[in-house]
Amino acid sequence: MSRLDAWRDDLAILRGLLRGMPRGETHAGNLAAFYSTQAEGYDRFRERLLQGRQELIERLPLPHRARVVELGAGTGRNLDFFGSRLDDIGAFDLVDLCVPLLAYARRRADGHAQVRVIDADAAQFDPGQPVDCVYFSYSLTMVPPWRAAIANAWRMLRPGGVVGVVDFYVAEENPPHGLVRHSAATRGFWPRWFAHDGVKLDAGHLPTLRATFETVYLREGRARVPYLPLLHAPYYVFVGRKPIGETNP
Ligand SMILES: C[S@@+](CC[C@H](N)C(=O)[O-])C[C@H]1O[C@@H](n2cnc3c(N)ncnc32)[C@H](O)[C@@H]1O
Repeated sequence: MSRLDAWRDDLAILRGLLRGMPRGETHAGNLAAFYSTQAEGYDRFRERLLQGRQELIERLPLPHRARVVELGAGTGRNLDFFGSRLDDIGAFDLVDLCVPLLAYARRRADGHAQVRVIDADAAQFDPGQPVDCVYFSYSLTMVPPWRAAIANAWRMLRPGGVVGVVDFYVAEENPPHGLVRHSAATRGFWPRWFAHDGVKLDAGHLPTLRATFETVYLREGRARVPYLPLLHAPYYVFVGRKPIGETNP
């Protein structure tokens, strides 16, 4: 891709981000309108913004022939992070509500018979049988009923199955010992910054995940923001396990 094309792509993305998430009647319609002008340059731009995705994928402990679901899979970019592990996965469902991004996911899934690309809501999707792993990659903050989405992940996991989440966040005002504390400025600024684009940072995400699943891995960090070198957005990578023997979260 030439420099000029790269610039054009970035410009389309930046325009979309400045316009923000539309406030139409349906969530699917809003996502389609928001992403339709960004779909082409989506992967290249998000490579620089959405940190920790490869780390999350590498940290997911998967059994042989695992059944895996990504909720809010977008263009299916994370498939590539699996590398040769993808061939060992028995069934892989990429779920998203955004038609323009799903078109790219279908192209990416082409040639991988075990991968299904599904137009469905993360809070309601039912894979039909229990799965070994469900993960959200920068999607939990975009699903308005995020508690329902976490409960749905729990429902579809087999006991002992794993959930993975990587996303932007802000810490609770008084986080438990050992977790990162954010200043009042950080906790005030980032939710406002992201809200314009339909990304809802909620200090309740991480505590809910930690209370629902046994923590296998947690790292909290900061990500650079393209074109804004002084800004570093807080994000976390979480892997949790559904306890064996529990029927309700
Ligand atoms: C920031 S993108 C991340 C995409 C991809 N996981 C990645 O890492 O590149 C968030 C995705 O969540 C999807 N999404 C938002 N709300 C959703 C919902 N209720 N059900 C399914 N997908 C949803 C959006 O369409 C979008 O593709």
